[in-house]
Amino acid sequence: MKIKIIKSGPYLVTGNVPLSKIEFVIDENNSPICFGKKERIETSETYSLCRCGHSNNKPFCDGNHGKIGFKGEEIASKNLADLKNNDIETDKVKLIDRTIFCDHSRFCLREGGIRKLIDDGTEESIEIAIEEAKNCPSGRLTLINKENNESSESEYEREIIMIYDSGEKVQGPIWVRGGIEIESSNGDNYDIRNRITLCQCGKSENKPFCNGSHWVSQERQAKFRKKWGLD
Ligand code: FES
Repeated sequence: MKIKIIKSGPYLVTGNVPLSKIEFVIDENNSPICFGKKERIETSETYSLCRCGHSNNKPFCDGNHGKIGFKGEEIASKNLADLKNNDIETDKVKLIDRTIFCDHSRFCLREGGIRKLIDDGTEESIEIAIEEAKNCPSGRLTLINKENNESSESEYEREIIMIYDSGEKVQGPIWVRGGIEIESSNGDNYDIRNRITLCQCGKSENKPFCNGSHWVSQERQAKFRKKWGLD
């Protein structure tokens, strides 16, 4: 199973990777709390997923990337070791925060936010913090329980899921789970991760990964980058 990024074009998926779609379940404030039921999308063994955001046959590519002159330049680092993390640690847990991968799904904002929950440090608040880290589709957040060294990472089957953000009412990123190999358009591989979110709208400034640009304005992106020291 593999995803090959085509220069100025789609994601070419080979090896019979299962494809599904899913929606956020939201609360009364439009904040996501978990995921709804996954629905399977029929595919052939090899298929191409739109990366430019302009296909009329989403999630599949229909060739429109050529008509709109999509460049799709890959900007993200291929190596996890090169990233600037914003980790925090208490006597109970360690939060690994690879901020650059944030897809603005907002699971980590519930109940005052994951950092406050960790800071509170009660059994209940840590439990919610673990759930929030688990729900983060981008894999930005991983929580390690220091007592038993357990990680919040779930074990996933290898698959691809199209996320619909029912809070913002917009198509979200392409969720790649289970450590599928991703090859850049220049032939190099990205470090394999258990869960990642790929850009499907064509607007991310951290391509091929999603950075929330499917709904987050440029102004808000700039504030986010400043807050987390990403520039
Ligand atoms: S990448 Fe081909 S139509 Fe979007």
